[in-house]
Amino acid sequence: MKKILIAGPSSQILGVKIAHELGIEAINTEAKLFPDGENYLRINIEDETLIADKKVIIVQSTGPSSNGNQNTRLMELFMMIDSVKRMGAAYVIVVSPYLAYARQDKVFRPGESQFSKVMFKFINSLGIDEFYTVDIHSQEILKECTCKTINIDSMKLLADYIKSKGAKDIVVVSPDKGAIERSKAFAAHFGENVPVDVFEKQRDNKTGDITMRGELSLKGKDVVIADDIIATGGTMATAIKLARESGANKIYAVATHALLLDQAKYRILKAGADEIIGTDSIDNEACKVSLAKIIADYLK
Ligand code: R5P
Repeated sequence: MKKILIAGPSSQILGVKIAHELGIEAINTEAKLFPDGENYLRINIEDETLIADKKVIIVQSTGPSSNGNQNTRLMELFMMIDSVKRMGAAYVIVVSPYLAYARQDKVFRPGESQFSKVMFKFINSLGIDEFYTVDIHSQEILKECTCKTINIDSMKLLADYIKSKGAKDIVVVSPDKGAIERSKAFAAHFGENVPVDVFEKQRDNKTGDITMRGELSLKGKDVVIADDIIATGGTMATAIKLARESGANKIYAVATHALLLDQAKYRILKAGADEIIGTDSIDNEACKVSLAKIIADYLK
C-alpha cells in the first residue's frame, strides 16, 4: 500500500525528516485559531483522492510550542485524523512523540480526573490503526489504546550525543526514585559499570513545590541528569544545584521532551547546567537529537 505523510503544525521539521528517511511524500498542514478560540486545521491538498486508499502517517507532537499550546496541538491531531479518515485513508498511523496529559495518569488528590485514560478514549474513537510515541511518561496508559502501540526508546540517541561532546568519567543521576530504572537503562549506553545515583524528590501536590535530598559524591565527575520531561525546570534545576554542591565537573541536563516552559531555561542554566539536551519531539532550542531515523526505522 502506498504511504503518505502528513506533517502536523507542531512537527513540521520532524515530519519532513521522517518522510525523507522513508522516501515518501510529505504534505503540510495549515492551522489557525478562529476569533472565538476554536481551532482550524486543514491538510494542504486540493485533490482529496490523494489520500484515498493510502497508508497515512500523521506526525504531530502534542507539546506546547511558540505557536500553540498543548490543547491546540491535540485538537489539531484529532482534526487531522478525522480529515484523513473522511478522505478514505485505508490505514492510519499516528506518530505523537510527546503525548500531552500523559502525566495525569494517577489521581493525586480527591476529585481529580485521570485524564491520560480519557485521551486514549478520544484516540480510540477516531479509529486509527497504529499509535507511536517516544519515552512515554507511564507505559501503563498505553494499555488504554485499543490499536497497536509502539513506545520508542530515545536513550541511545541521547547518550550518543553526550558521548560526542567528550563527556568522561560519567555518573548518571536520577532526579527521583521513579526514574531510576530509566536512568539505569540510560547509563548502560555509556558503557559497563557506569554508576547511577539517585536523588529523592518530593513534590507538594497542592503547590507543586519540589524538595530533593541526596548525599552524593560527584567530585570531578561528568554528571548526566536524565528525565523524561523537563516542564517548568523545577526538578532539573533542583537536581543540578545538588550536583554542583557535590562537586560535579560538567553537568548535562537531558530529557526526551524538553518542553522548557516559562523560566525553565534560565532556572536550569543558572543552577549550573553546562547544556540542556532534548530531542525534536519538541521543536525548540534544546533540540539536539533527531528522532527521525529511529521513528522511520519502525515505520519501514
Ligand atoms: C515527573 O514525574 C517527570 O518525570 C518530570 O520529572 C517532571 O514532569 C518535570 O517537571 P518540572 O520540569 O516541572 O519539574
